Amino acid sequence: MGVQITPSILNADMGNLAAEVARIPSADMVHVDVMDNHFVPNLTLGPAMVQALAGATSIPLDCHLMIEDPDRWAPAYAEAGASSVTFHVEAAAAPVRLARELRGQGARAGMALKPATPVDPYEDLLAELDMLLVMTVEPGFGGQKFLDLCLPKVRRARELADRHGLDLWLQVDGGVSAETIGRCAEAGADVFVAGSAVYGADDPDAMVATLRGLAQP
Ligand code: DX5
Ligand code: ZN
Repeated sequence: MGVQITPSILNADMGNLAAEVARIPSADMVHVDVMDNHFVPNLTLGPAMVQALAGATSIPLDCHLMIEDPDRWAPAYAEAGASSVTFHVEAAAAPVRLARELRGQGARAGMALKPATPVDPYEDLLAELDMLLVMTVEPGFGGQKFLDLCLPKVRRARELADRHGLDLWLQVDGGVSAETIGRCAEAGADVFVAGSAVYGADDPDAMVATLRGLAQP
């Protein structure tokens, strides 16, 4: 699939989301951060908003669920039209069952790891996933500083995926910018979330192109 740039709308103008998404026509997916005030200390939006946004753009939606009990709530986001649904393994009771359910709904199944969560215990689960998200900040807010301490895990995840011959998308999220994206790509990431770097730029779509160029292997 190659490099994919997936801007996060968390720091976009939430009152004009359809217009904000129209500013990034060359994005590969739109990253939608769902927060529930329990898994993280912030609250954003739910399936109704995802459904509305899916109707407002032809760019696939990549939903990142930072919520408790994704086993119960995640399928509603696939139902709402998300093309990819990522749950946190720290919150999931039955990640294999949930990934299979999401795939059964026709969505891509993603699993996310917070900075302190290692990837090795999940080696045997990777085959059940379409995407692994390695967080490069503690989830909850945009605009945080990139954590270099997460890069060895990106490298390790790529190694494990290669060892098993998997076509696994490897996403990084948090503090990804023109300054940090090269290090992520070099470690093996191929899907890059960028929130403040894109929406803080004068020309968000030009920043998508810049990031894409810097992420080429
Ligand atoms: C943080 C979210 C990110 C956030 C990234 O918990 O998961 O997707 O929007 O924002 P930046 O790129 O500003 O770190
Ligand atoms: Zn995110």
